[in-house]
Amino acid sequence: MPTQFDAIADRYHADTRRNDELDRVGARINAIIPGKVVLDIGNGGVFGYDPRLATRAIALDPSAAMLSKITIPSVETIVGDASKIDQFIQDGELDVVVCHVVLHHISGRDVGDTFRIRNELLATIRQKLCPGGQLVVVESLLKPAYVLPQRLLYAATRWVLARSEIPMIFFYSKKELADAVCRAFSPHVSEMLIATKKLSR
Ligand SMILES: C[S@@+](CC[C@H](N)C(=O)[O-])C[C@H]1O[C@@H](n2cnc3c(N)ncnc32)[C@H](O)[C@@H]1O
Repeated sequence: MPTQFDAIADRYHADTRRNDELDRVGARINAIIPGKVVLDIGNGGVFGYDPRLATRAIALDPSAAMLSKITIPSVETIVGDASKIDQFIQDGELDVVVCHVVLHHISGRDVGDTFRIRNELLATIRQKLCPGGQLVVVESLLKPAYVLPQRLLYAATRWVLARSEIPMIFFYSKKELADAVCRAFSPHVSEMLIATKKLSR
């Protein structure tokens, strides 16, 4: 099924140029992926890191147009939604999962549904990671003062976006995100790598 990102893929890629933030995050990811199996959820054809360092790099995204921007032949692509990871990936198959600016696109009909979908995704990621595996989350984070207003305005925001056929977006504060990841991975969290990204990219 075509997605909102299919329609904007050309523009997104024209606007997404290499920048310091992408390089900084990419350098940290480069350090952990050599010889590893990497799944990049919501990859969108954008790599801050070098996927050729990995034994296998798998880019998963529901937008075929975004994935078509990938120019590195060794990258495996899967057109699919994050909720369908189970269909493509075996338990324990992955060493590293990358979620680069994608979690805010994963939403449901209301706040509770969004949290449920997010928690299910994190639980699935944990299941697919091998022991000692790593999850890298890069997100545009919400200031704590906006957490409650965003929740209260969920239905209205969703309605307004739907008028323009834009799926709901829902941002997390650093604490909310860290808590959700810690809960999903407890007691196996040894280090959290949460890089912040400016919305201005
Ligand atoms: C803001 S773009 C980020 C793309 C790339 N990771 C980057 O950093 O530029 C969000 C990407 O997430 C993908 N996406 C949206 N909903 C998704 C979902 N439910 N599961 C997986 N990917 C999704 C979109 O198609 C899009 O490519």
